[in-house]
Amino acid sequence: MITMDDIIREGHPTLRAVAKEVTFPISDEERQLGNEMMEFLENSQDPEKAEELDLRGGVGLAAPQVNVSKRMTAVLVPSDDPDSDEPVFKDVLYNPKILSHSVKDACLGEGEGCLSVDRDVPGYVVRHDKITLRYFDADGNKHKVRLREYPAIVVQHEIDHLNGVMFYDHINEDNPFALNDGVLVIE
Ligand code: NI
Repeated sequence: MITMDDIIREGHPTLRAVAKEVTFPISDEERQLGNEMMEFLENSQDPEKAEELDLRGGVGLAAPQVNVSKRMTAVLVPSDDPDSDEPVFKDVLYNPKILSHSVKDACLGEGEGCLSVDRDVPGYVVRHDKITLRYFDADGNKHKVRLREYPAIVVQHEIDHLNGVMFYDHINEDNPFALNDGVLVIE
């Protein structure tokens, strides 16, 4: 089971490496890792388990964050409706790629955080508002989905991890809350 002890933190070179594509069929180890990354996210979003296991809450976990430099990431964006258990987006993505994106940009009003970063880094992380994402699942099935706003931001944060990019690389150092016109601030 993955816990916070398995997650590498900023400064570790794997977080700055460009991860390698996965080949299909994936290995048993790769499938297991994908399952464990998703299990981590599920546990981290379950208040009792998160407390018991001492997990920070997370909506995405990329393989490089557990020191595996492969293009795999788990994403679990829970429902924004308290009466629904149906996640907005849930899958383990293998070789994810953004095929196209909106001209419009967006950022989270609260900024971003990361399981590999043990400090608050204030500032807007400007990303694409909408993306068309292609990825493969653990069985090698190809998926193409359109995502917007929050789930689109989460997926872009995770794909960044596969390219050695940290969220704070996007923050304007001189003026962390500077925004161009037309950028959607998601509250
Ligand atoms: Ni992260």
